[in-house]
Amino acid sequence: MPHDSCENRGMDELRWPTYKTRSITLDRPLDSTTRGSAYVVDSEGREYLDCVGGIGCAPLGHGDPRWVEAISNQLAKIAAAANSYRTAPQRAYARALLDRVPMADARVFLCSTGTESTEAAIKLAVKSTGRDVIIAFERAFHGRSLGALSLTANPGYRRPYVRCLAEPEGAGAFADMKVARAPFGDLDAVRALCERYKGRVAAIFLEPIQGEAGIFPASKEFLLGLRELCDSQGALLGIDEIQSGCGRTGHFTAWETIVGDAAEPDILWMAKALGGGFPVAACVARTEVAQAMQPGTHGTTFGGNPVACAAGLATLRIIEEDGLMAKAGAQRAILEELAAAQPLSAPFEIRGVGAMLGVGIGAPDEKLAAPLGARMPELGVLVTVCGGHTVRSLLPFFAGREELAKFWATIIQALEA
Ligand SMILES: Cc1ncc(COP(=O)(O)O)c(C=O)c1O
Repeated sequence: MPHDSCENRGMDELRWPTYKTRSITLDRPLDSTTRGSAYVVDSEGREYLDCVGGIGCAPLGHGDPRWVEAISNQLAKIAAAANSYRTAPQRAYARALLDRVPMADARVFLCSTGTESTEAAIKLAVKSTGRDVIIAFERAFHGRSLGALSLTANPGYRRPYVRCLAEPEGAGAFADMKVARAPFGDLDAVRALCERYKGRVAAIFLEPIQGEAGIFPASKEFLLGLRELCDSQGALLGIDEIQSGCGRTGHFTAWETIVGDAAEPDILWMAKALGGGFPVAACVARTEVAQAMQPGTHGTTFGGNPVACAAGLATLRIIEEDGLMAKAGAQRAILEELAAAQPLSAPFEIRGVGAMLGVGIGAPDEKLAAPLGARMPELGVLVTVCGGHTVRSLLPFFAGREELAKFWATIIQALEA
């Protein structure tokens, strides 16, 4: 069928209109001769401090030569392999992940995106318990595929698809799966849901730090309370570390940063930072739980791809060689110091852990952060804004005083503009 050439179409005419795009074309790292860069250069040669990092996907910054070399080497060896065959990078990566997660005896399902890892967790919870209710939380974000969207709270994301989602009592497409929702942090409300759906709760799923909602960490008491509740109900505790995992909070998982080694989750899933910029995700489950899966009960073509595994391995190696978890863990204290020395002219609150930071500005419904987030790129800093009220920083793990000072000074400048 003849059709018009796409040559003269801009980005907005080429893609589905699912994103609001800025008129910035990101091109390359500023300087990455010995390690990754926290700065990016656009196609016009303008430089930006990148506090977005592909939304938490650049723990090493951009263009770390060691990461590039590891991926290039694997590309030249073998780039595609079906999961019915074995590869050395997949074995090495699975071992590396299982050695690091806070679970004594676990198995991993490798995949490529966050929502895919949530989906794996949902299927495992439902299959291994034979139950039909998952408890999730208000403000939660777990992804946008239909299963994950059933757990995600944002009505704007859900509304067009509500008839396809697992609703508390609805007759959605997932007729045998229900999602019940409690306020984040409210253990009594979760307890009440467990009573209401007695014997039916497959799992309680949550982000240990709610990211898209505006960076709200769970307390240790809440997480341990949920652990106890799951034990008493025979339900599984599922922790979504897609945004918080892989060292961003100072430990491999936010679970360890918040809870320590006092308890283990049953299922834990990660994405974003895992691949250092390459699409890598993983859903880890206690072996006893994972064994509910058999050949054919789940799968994915690209999961565990040799190049993805090489990217994941290189990311872990560099994070550890350079002591990056400790550096990431120190970011919040540095930002607090900067804020104490030079407070904002508007009421503000710093939230988050390590290198997963949010600056709440004004009252949530004033949405003061949205115009700031729009101005900051013009001032040389890329950020994302959560919920219209919180400027978020997901800087590379090595970032320190210099980068955080620029982030803070630019918020001040944007407020005054
Ligand atoms: C906590 C959490 N879960 C799930 C997702 C979805 O991940 P993806 O966009 O890779 O599907 C995100 C992405 O922002 C997230 O932050």
